[in-house]
Amino acid sequence: MSKDIITGLDLGSGLIKIAVGQIQPDKQLRVIGAVECSSEGISKGIVTNLEDTVASISAGLEKTERLVGIPINSAIVGISGTHIISQDSRGVAAINQANGEIKRNDIERALEAAQSIATPPNYEIIHVIPRNFVVDDQRGIKDPLGMTGIRLEVNAQVIEGLTSQIKNLTKCLYRAGINIDDLVFSILATAEAVLDKQQKELGVCVVDLGNTTTSLTVLEENDVLTAKVLPIGSRHITADLAIGLRVGLDLAEKVKLNYAFASPEDIKEEEKVYLSDLSSAETAVVSKKQIAEITNARLEEIFKMVNDELRLIGRAGKLPAGVVLTGAGAKLPGLVEVAKQVFKLPVMIGYPHHVISSIDKVNDPSFANVIGLLLWEHHLHQFSTPTSLKTFSNLKIDFKNRIINLIKKILP
Ligand SMILES: Nc1ncnc2c1ncn2[C@@H]1O[C@H](COP(=O)(O)OP(=O)(O)OP(=O)(O)O)[C@@H](O)[C@H]1O
Ligand SMILES: [Mg+2]
Repeated sequence: MSKDIITGLDLGSGLIKIAVGQIQPDKQLRVIGAVECSSEGISKGIVTNLEDTVASISAGLEKTERLVGIPINSAIVGISGTHIISQDSRGVAAINQANGEIKRNDIERALEAAQSIATPPNYEIIHVIPRNFVVDDQRGIKDPLGMTGIRLEVNAQVIEGLTSQIKNLTKCLYRAGINIDDLVFSILATAEAVLDKQQKELGVCVVDLGNTTTSLTVLEENDVLTAKVLPIGSRHITADLAIGLRVGLDLAEKVKLNYAFASPEDIKEEEKVYLSDLSSAETAVVSKKQIAEITNARLEEIFKMVNDELRLIGRAGKLPAGVVLTGAGAKLPGLVEVAKQVFKLPVMIGYPHHVISSIDKVNDPSFANVIGLLLWEHHLHQFSTPTSLKTFSNLKIDFKNRIINLIKKILP
């Protein structure tokens, strides 16, 4: 595969999304293919059935290869799941140079030191993201490269995942014949796709409303303040509709996709849905308001759980750039209003930006994650200079080889 071609792979629990990007001569990223296909064997971000997952990935890759006409043998893969945890850390390094000038190597040693925090047993570090540096007594430095000092300290956020889950995921990918260019915590990649510089600077929360999970991250002054995966998603709305309307899950999903609305107060009592329109085996007529009430109750619960996470870091109601909702679950009509009521913040839907594409379906919240994976890798190509330690998207450079080593180490 040409060096200018990159592939992103989002192993969602509802759908696998694959996107292929080509880096243009002017360094812009063009999406040349995007595919989604059904996902089996993955739930809440973790592999629950190896064979089914391998089959789903293989089917997705085959479909993509047919579309773009290029064999795909490696990808940047999103990793998600409630097992992923993030914690604060600190690392210190003495400056090596006699003249006290901070080199890339000093930064790397400080970041290495930040990794030595107590990692729970059976967990592996996925990312170490520097927030800021302290050079001697000077605090709040974003890029210490070239500065002068004796002591370099880094305040970082360490993201870790369960070794067994990483191992299962990598096993499936290798069995499907795909090499891993990089493993990236999905919600961080999603943020890359849907946010602009100003939002990251002002303070913003990105919420990815998926099928069985809801992931969130908060960014402020370009730093990641928190990142978490909650074990609840749009599938729970489907399950509630199935119970509330006394219909099967498949029909409940159709009801959600065709008739669900998040704000019941906007719906008149007399509005009805004829289930026979969706399934010839059904004769029941249900109230549209009831569908909206069921949908609203679950959405409110999900948003309140996200708001609890904001409260934990002191940012509930305090993010000037508000909340950006993405993931296919965010396509539910009326959900922005519900989110505004819960968060008491500006709320918008997050579409993937920063790429060129003539493929219509890429301009959709459900593709935000996979496009983010492409951008993550693209930034690596574009900013692989020592001055690139400015935005978190570029900070993985130092850890890429370590991740690849980790994968090799844990593979049988
Ligand atoms: N137009 C729509 N309106 C409402 N919900 C929708 C719409 N389209 C898709 N969904 C819901 O979005 C969910 C799938 O979202 P998404 O594809 O982002 O999840 P995923 O990435 O597969 O899952 P996860 O991230 O939890 O592993 C499904 O529950 C689906 O019913
Ligand atoms: Mg997802």
